[in-house]
Amino acid sequence: MTMGDGTGRDTAIDDRPAIDPPAWFVEQANVSDPSVYDAFEAEWPECWDRAGELLDWDDPYDAVFRGDERPPFEWFPGGRLNASYNCIDRHLPERKNQLALIWEGPLGDATTYTYRELYREVNAVAAALRDHGVEADDVVTIYLPMVPELPILMLACVRLGVVHNVVFAGFSADALAERMERTGSELLVTCDGYYRRGSAVAQKNKADNARIAVDQDVSVVVVERLGLDVHLGDGYYDYEALRATHDGAEVDPVPRAADDTLFRIYTSGTTGEPKAVDHTTGGYLAHVAWTAQSVLDIKPGDTYWCSADIGWITGHSYIVYGPLSLGTTTVLYNGTPDHPEKDRLWELVERYAVDVFYTAPTAVRAFMKWGEEHPAGHDLSSLRLLGTVGEPIDERAWRWYREHIGGGECPVVDTWWQTETGAILVSTLPGVDGMKPGAAGKPLPGIETGVVDPAGEGVSEGEAGELVVTRPWPGMPDALRTGEDWGAAAARGEEWRYYPEDGATIDDDGYITVLGRVDDAINVAGRRFSTMELESAITGVTGIAEAAVVGADHETTGTALYAYVSAEDGYTEADLRERIAEAVTDAIGGVAKPEAVVFTPDLPKTRSGKVMRRLLAAVANDDPLGDISALRNPEIVGELQSATPDS
Ligand code: PRX
Repeated sequence: MTMGDGTGRDTAIDDRPAIDPPAWFVEQANVSDPSVYDAFEAEWPECWDRAGELLDWDDPYDAVFRGDERPPFEWFPGGRLNASYNCIDRHLPERKNQLALIWEGPLGDATTYTYRELYREVNAVAAALRDHGVEADDVVTIYLPMVPELPILMLACVRLGVVHNVVFAGFSADALAERMERTGSELLVTCDGYYRRGSAVAQKNKADNARIAVDQDVSVVVVERLGLDVHLGDGYYDYEALRATHDGAEVDPVPRAADDTLFRIYTSGTTGEPKAVDHTTGGYLAHVAWTAQSVLDIKPGDTYWCSADIGWITGHSYIVYGPLSLGTTTVLYNGTPDHPEKDRLWELVERYAVDVFYTAPTAVRAFMKWGEEHPAGHDLSSLRLLGTVGEPIDERAWRWYREHIGGGECPVVDTWWQTETGAILVSTLPGVDGMKPGAAGKPLPGIETGVVDPAGEGVSEGEAGELVVTRPWPGMPDALRTGEDWGAAAARGEEWRYYPEDGATIDDDGYITVLGRVDDAINVAGRRFSTMELESAITGVTGIAEAAVVGADHETTGTALYAYVSAEDGYTEADLRERIAEAVTDAIGGVAKPEAVVFTPDLPKTRSGKVMRRLLAAVANDDPLGDISALRNPEIVGELQSATPDS
């Protein structure tokens, strides 16, 4: 059966046969018994003990879950643990000389840390932070690119019970300042600069500007990466000097209650403001460890590589906390996939004999475009499992990935989750389930989801609806756990449910195909941006009267940002174009620059004056326009169509 979802994607997956994982994979898989689904169902919520048991607890929990049909919910109440201990100390007896981190830089430079070395570094940095006066529950902001100091600082913070707030290094000074101000964070760690695509980025300048912009007093610790010998004025500290002073120090990990905050991360919500998501120490870590084990099939001693950036949730969960809690070797790559050559990633997979590789569909589509000769030139036979995350992967890209990276043999897991869920909720279990290219899979054992119509009723197979999560899960964030964030959902139905704001279909095997966001967030290359944030940056440009940003299908990044703008009289397009790019770069970062800026005399509006985004999205995608009878200015449509470049 084929049905259109308005996005031009083929959703005809219902009767596609599933591809079974190969026997050699199943034999060695961490989870290979199909009864795992029934066992979790029969024993919910105690089934989640299986995740709790993956961790070492200072105080055992009294119960796996406490709660009723509605929030508040508690996961592992009574339990106390420390995440740094779980990711480092407990592995020392067996694997102190095993690599914990492999860091590979953009210029072919590399550094490794064994678990013992990581222990030493994290303790020294934790001692330095403690001496600086940082205490449990304080928030430290970390604004670093993919360098070893980033996970080291995260683990040093959580060792002290300090909450880290990692801000993606590509974000602008304004975006950093806004996030720091919201958390009241008084300590910022950044670096002098770093290399990206062969050029130096002056990171400290951005941090300096953010420091000036916030109301609170902020101390800044600077990691020297480029040897720029930057001037450290009052309130600035040199990371290396602090670390060296405390080298050899040992800091007892501070036991934290299971629902104490482990970290804060900002994402794009439906408003124009960044949305803080706080994850818990016990539930989050247990969920991440369990999914790293069952879905990503990570084993202690594996070399595992997730090519995301730690600045986003994927890196928190599946570069740092998941793999390290399981005692594996995690690869950190500070570079781009095509620099210096387009086989850079495959050269690294070969060199480090990577077992499991996890990336975004955008990257897969880029590999596909560059050509199969790049991976073909390398021995990728160490790979056992491939994964994707962040956006839908179409069938063609999925098959290409399996064929040309996975040697036609590796299972590919398409993992659905989000910043708010903390860890994977929907996927296949690679040692159990057949895979359907294009569909993410079923809710994992213990997870309950549905696809519903606007009235909240389940849709029939193949029909598009909204994805809902209908039972609490251990990695749920604080606002959902406590019920603070339940207002909108409560208004939509009697029962507690979480709406992730994704459209989806479900087939008769219960496999879910995720179609994309249904709110005003746009996912570009697996990164989430808010249209409101973008539009307010654009309308901040003098000469711009109005702006509306929509997503257009894009061959590589899945979706591209198209900005439709109307200008005031007396301004030239070329000048405004440049200033729009600058304004977005300043407000958010270069990563959010629109692919196309389309000038129009007016935006399409309903009679009540509301911008008709649906129409703009249809124009951007060259899709049928649908019903435009509510449009006040239909004469604008032809102009919009001719001014829009092909997506
Ligand atoms: O729309 C879904 C998409 O990414 C959104 C979450 O974005 P973010 O919180 O930035 O986290 C990205 C990394 C976990 C979701 O609401 N998304 C994520 N994974 C998939 C996906 N869409 C389709 N298939 C996926 N596997």
